[in-house]
Amino acid sequence: MATHNIVTYPGKPYYACKYEEQTKIKHQVFASYFDTWVKIVGKDSPLNFIDCFGGCGLYDDNGNLQPGSPIIAAQIIEQNAISLKRDCCVTILDIDKNCTDNIPQAFKLFNCNCSYELINADFEAYINTELAMLEAKGKTLSPTFFLIDPYGYKIKLETIKRLMSVKNSEVYFNFMFNAVNRGISSGKVDNTMDELFGCTEWRDCQQLHGIEREACIVDLIRNQFKQFSRYVLPYRICFPSIDRTYFYMIHLTNHVRGCEIMKACFAELNHGKIEYIGKNQNQSFIFDLIEDPVQEIESYISTNFKNSRESFDELLDKMIDTTPYLGKDISSAVLSLYNRQLANIRRVSSKRQSSKPTKKDIIEIY
Ligand SMILES: C[S@@+](CC[C@H](N)C(=O)[O-])C[C@H]1O[C@@H](n2cnc3c(N)ncnc32)[C@H](O)[C@@H]1O
Repeated sequence: MATHNIVTYPGKPYYACKYEEQTKIKHQVFASYFDTWVKIVGKDSPLNFIDCFGGCGLYDDNGNLQPGSPIIAAQIIEQNAISLKRDCCVTILDIDKNCTDNIPQAFKLFNCNCSYELINADFEAYINTELAMLEAKGKTLSPTFFLIDPYGYKIKLETIKRLMSVKNSEVYFNFMFNAVNRGISSGKVDNTMDELFGCTEWRDCQQLHGIEREACIVDLIRNQFKQFSRYVLPYRICFPSIDRTYFYMIHLTNHVRGCEIMKACFAELNHGKIEYIGKNQNQSFIFDLIEDPVQEIESYISTNFKNSRESFDELLDKMIDTTPYLGKDISSAVLSLYNRQLANIRRVSSKRQSSKPTKKDIIEIY
């Protein structure tokens, strides 16, 4: 256990980690998305939440205790319990016994009565053994949200691929860019990098610098994930007061709606942007601030989908994880093109001619 950011309380049986700005953002986006996920995924089947790197469950925010990710998820499940009318099993893993011993204290402190299974084990060993056992019995997991939030990068791409093979499952993965960026040049962790990227091409990024190097690393991991996950969107998180990337939260899902909703959740908490660039910064890296996104999207659609005819979801599928645009703005842009007689909307899912197109509505771009 790293001790530099630990806060203890004399006479109390628990401890907390110092709450940092980037962790708050990570938690806020996760809470916002997870609340939607439990409401909409597989309405008739039970769900699982597996916090693969659960942590100690408590954060100290200038003297105020705040819940860690396992408690945040459990609280959301508890709040949704009546309307859900189905089980959502919570499993919390951590390799550090200090953490797994602290988790029950955290549940108590937040009066959270959601049941959970606590496992003091290594994530890869545990999850691969469990999935192999299920496979041997011809069974599979019900839809599962895997939160993978390590301090470092000792994660195998093959394991994430295996998690994504569980039907209707999603992965929210903390890609520790800052550490990976140092690691790829060190010459000491080449095997770990081969396993993380699932290939040897990360070596092509070694000679690059600055923005090119960052783009090379992030594009590679994204492309590798795209081989087994339909939508992959990395969300850049900077150090709160240094103009530099700390990590990327990468969302993997096979559902266009999942990708659309996560993007909307992130943007809502980050001034409309899909990156967190710290408190005092104004430089954007992935996508610059767009003043009038709808106008820009209209032009993007007119250029890239000229003479096309497809459903709104098919259009969304082609834009949601390859452009900075939000689903609601894409929909507004199509409506605007329609109002300007530059597109046609054949209503299938939406009712009124004046409403924004959605799902199965057929869009013809002139
Ligand atoms: C960043 S913290 C998790 C924070 C937590 N997700 C939250 O947001 O509240 C990372 C945790 O991973 C744990 N860990 C490190 N290596 C692990 C492994 N191989 N398997 C499981 N847990 C591990 C550490 O003990 C640490 O508690």
